[in-house]
Amino acid sequence: MSGKELEYIKQAFESNYIAPVGEFIDKFEEAVKNYVKIESALAVINGTSAIHLALRVLGIDEGDKVLASTFTFIGSATPILYQKAKPIFIDSDESWNIDPNLVEDAAKKEKPKALIVTHLYGQMAKIEQLRYLADKYGFYLIEDAAEALGAAYKNRQSGTFGDFGVYSFNGNKILTTSSGGVLASNNKEWIEKAKFLSTQAKETFLWYEHKEVGYNYRMSNILAAIGVAQMEVIDERVKRKREIFNAYKKKLSDVADFMPEIEKSRGNRWLTTLTFKDKEPLSVLKYLKKYGIESRPLWKPMHMQPVFKNAKAYVNGRSEELFKKGLCLPSGTQIKDKQIEFIINKVRECWISTEF
Ligand SMILES: Cc1ncc(COP(=O)(O)O)c(C=O)c1O
Repeated sequence: MSGKELEYIKQAFESNYIAPVGEFIDKFEEAVKNYVKIESALAVINGTSAIHLALRVLGIDEGDKVLASTFTFIGSATPILYQKAKPIFIDSDESWNIDPNLVEDAAKKEKPKALIVTHLYGQMAKIEQLRYLADKYGFYLIEDAAEALGAAYKNRQSGTFGDFGVYSFNGNKILTTSSGGVLASNNKEWIEKAKFLSTQAKETFLWYEHKEVGYNYRMSNILAAIGVAQMEVIDERVKRKREIFNAYKKKLSDVADFMPEIEKSRGNRWLTTLTFKDKEPLSVLKYLKKYGIESRPLWKPMHMQPVFKNAKAYVNGRSEELFKKGLCLPSGTQIKDKQIEFIINKVRECWISTEF
């Protein structure tokens, strides 16, 4: 937390707006809009619901093909199944993010309606190429920037290149409302439609009238109050995340390769992620755990997940390799420099410890 949250929550309580309406929702949406520089934003209960709304608004329906990053968190892809559409997973390239060449192969063969691209671990995917492919092959582009608020390509923020951008404010993200999400777009009408769907698709009658299936996806004013306070510290959070990443990289580059950043981009370095040159990540994870240090494996690719066993995939082995070799190190912005030193020392010990 930044320090201002309780003050704003108190104001929300005093206004008695503790429902999914109230001035903090407007302020939070305004803050996100102004920060990323986009026309319209909608605050919702989480990033997953924002992706679902994007698919609904774009008319993605039963049987439609949707390309998606395979190397991602599952919340990026399950909304495709909510719509009974068909996910087609696309592997990564050397950037760890989606491979535009494989996207083009799939676009030619599959005639997809949309692509959901994840900006993985806060680093920008090759968004300019993907925008070009979306226009060339006529599919919608949804940017899953759940992990990437504050990341930019050519000084333009993640989530603003696509037809829709999605940000998560889950507890583990660079900013958090405990649980929350934002759907953003330069198309105001689409955001209006998403707002309608997120509030049970209630028609503008004096009574409760519903012609379409909607959802209860709108963010509460209390959580939005937290979000307003959080948005005030986004720049310092990105700065600190990048310092943490650089501190690890400086001292561990001989034993590990770190997630790259594509040219002309600046990631938010949400998590410091690396692959070990000659060590099993799970053995390092277990060693660190003994010292109270929590590390995590990289995302297991979606095409390897049993829940997606029937989905088609365009793969090249890259994400499977990353999953086998990679680890996320503690990256919370509250971490002290001394703690980073301690973690680095413990990681290095893995190379001299007799337990291996
Ligand atoms: C890449 C990615 N997509 C989608 C989500 C879903 O966001 P939420 O947890 O807010 O539903 C997350 C994270 O939680 C994520 O990391």
